[in-house]
Amino acid sequence: MNNPKRYLVTAALPYANGPVHIGHLAGCYLPADIYVRYLRAQQRDVKFIGGSDEHGVPITIRAMKEGITPQQVVDRYHAIIKESMAQMGISFDIYSRTSNSVHHETAAAFFKKLYEEGLFEEKITEQYYDEKTNTFLADRYITGTCPICANPKAYGDQCEKCGTALSPEQLINPHSALSDAVPIKKSTKHWYFPLQNYEPWLKEWIIEGHTEWKNNVYGQCKSWLDNGLQSRAMTRDSNWGIKVPLPAAEGKVLYVWFDAPIGYISATKELTPQWADYWCQDDTKLVHFIGKDNIVFHCIIFPAMLKAHGGFVLPENVPANEFLNIEGEKVSTSRNWAVWVHEYIKDFEGAEDVLRYVLCANAPETKDNDFTWKDFQDRNNSELVSIFGNFVNRTWVLMHKLCGSKVPPLHESIMDDKDRALIEDISKAKDKVEKLLEEFKFRDALFEVIDLSRKGNKYMQEKEPWIVVKQLAENPAAQQSIDNCLHLCLQLTANLSILINPFLPNTAKKMLSMMKVVDKLLDWSNAGKIKLLSVGYSLRAPELLFRKIEDEEISKQIEKLKSGLITATAENNQAMPTSTNTADAVIPKPTIVYDDFAKIDLKVGTILAATKVEKADKLLQLEVDLGFEKRTIVSGIALHFTPEEIIGKQVVVVANLAPRKMKGIESNGMILMAEDNTGKLHFVKPESVIEPGAGVS
Ligand code: MF3
Ligand code: ZN
Repeated sequence: MNNPKRYLVTAALPYANGPVHIGHLAGCYLPADIYVRYLRAQQRDVKFIGGSDEHGVPITIRAMKEGITPQQVVDRYHAIIKESMAQMGISFDIYSRTSNSVHHETAAAFFKKLYEEGLFEEKITEQYYDEKTNTFLADRYITGTCPICANPKAYGDQCEKCGTALSPEQLINPHSALSDAVPIKKSTKHWYFPLQNYEPWLKEWIIEGHTEWKNNVYGQCKSWLDNGLQSRAMTRDSNWGIKVPLPAAEGKVLYVWFDAPIGYISATKELTPQWADYWCQDDTKLVHFIGKDNIVFHCIIFPAMLKAHGGFVLPENVPANEFLNIEGEKVSTSRNWAVWVHEYIKDFEGAEDVLRYVLCANAPETKDNDFTWKDFQDRNNSELVSIFGNFVNRTWVLMHKLCGSKVPPLHESIMDDKDRALIEDISKAKDKVEKLLEEFKFRDALFEVIDLSRKGNKYMQEKEPWIVVKQLAENPAAQQSIDNCLHLCLQLTANLSILINPFLPNTAKKMLSMMKVVDKLLDWSNAGKIKLLSVGYSLRAPELLFRKIEDEEISKQIEKLKSGLITATAENNQAMPTSTNTADAVIPKPTIVYDDFAKIDLKVGTILAATKVEKADKLLQLEVDLGFEKRTIVSGIALHFTPEEIIGKQVVVVANLAPRKMKGIESNGMILMAEDNTGKLHFVKPESVIEPGAGVS
């Protein structure tokens, strides 16, 4: 589309069932933000839409496991995600959420319109059902033994050990992941959207009409379309979500992938009364930023829904990124193999731009890419500090020393080829960066900016004003050469602030302050020019743009990553006493009433015996005296304590926890432990020994 009148930019709505990690940032939030900041600097009319995706099965499961309501789950994570986004400078015009009423109404009305026009098929099918928890089970929530590799923890849709795609029928000894029930089949009615009816149109629109989409996106669409589309259920059996707005649809909600993308529309409605200009006028350019697992939903299903509904614009582009691995391994939130954004912000205060830099420089734009802490350190120290930061700092120091703290004049009569080449480089850099940004090539665009600062360093090295100054006594005219060098380096710095601004907004702000100029300088139309700072204008002292990152900081992060893995694995064995997932540890849980607390029967116990559990590195079997009886408790503390050292110790026991079998041993209760920030466990116990069975409240 040439010259769109307005831009509508969306970034995938993250599920509010956990905090965001750096893979999320690299996948879509950061590229979307860079694009939007660039458009704003161009003075274009743009709205940047985001929000939390608060429906879907994973949220209900999490709530069930933690014994809280789904609303409490989403309230907790929505707040954390929103805060992380703001701190990382992801500049949404609105960050909304799909549990709010505007969205419920908008999505229900959308469904109703398709229903009334007869665009759904009604079908009754048999689905797996867990009679213990009274829930229909999505394939993912059925576990059993893989028929191929005998992994006992395969899922109903896939075995993660051997990678085979499965259906629940293929699992040996299938069980519900919610309870240990063996699922039964039960019939249920749902509303299906016949995607196949939109196939010819989709082929024309994408395969012929959008050959400019990124290869990874275009390729995935083509393969879906080549394989043929099928009807897809747009409703689910659940009581968490948007109620199906039809009579006799008790216990049915909209499929999360039906409602969530409509969230982009609802959030725009919430943002501005002019929302329809953005969504319904042909001269809007709609761009969806997403990760690769969202491609089919944004390129095929949602556009088909929009087309069926009518009256809405369709995406002009869907620049999806691939995945970012961490230290050579796939991110896994359940194994806690991730770098959490809220933790990064705590550990590297004031260095948000460094993470933005590294994630953009390493963005998985065309293939999966790897984040390593070593690379993070190298890029910071040898690119941001030694190239960009160094150029700006040298310019400032020399300007104060050799030019009286003011912008020196440019003496055109003595300009040489090097000066002219630098001016040319500045103007070319603007054109290159602009072109790359318009094509969503953020990495390359960023490299151009860094390259321009590298050229600045080279220019200064060749001009050596610190040597020229020594000739001043014999040759006062030499000052002119010094002036020219610093004049151009200062104009180059002003240009760098404009070009770096979409990527590193905090850095651009610091540069503005050093230059003593206002935001207006950052207008994109100023880029490429060399008359940005006026001659004679006095400038402030330099600020440190980037600091060196030391080896210790990096080894600490690597250790943290690895130790998080140990505690998370122990937790997955369901034997850890408390939530020791590092992400959870810092997250306050929602308020409870006294009655919730009073349900827990806490008692002091004395450990009478302890033995290692066979074939389980992490488990100890304990005999605990609770005064009125002796209990067997299995605890996941074997990596922290030897059996000998804990015999005779007192502990606090959750005495009324439902029994649970671990490695064939029935555990009757749980002991409380505190974890310090090095991952070491400490017993929670009375200050001095008291009689076993004493209550704790
Ligand atoms: N919550 C989804 C995910 O994290 C993305 C939803 S994008 C939307 O994969 F378009 F549906 F909102
Ligand atoms: Zn397998």
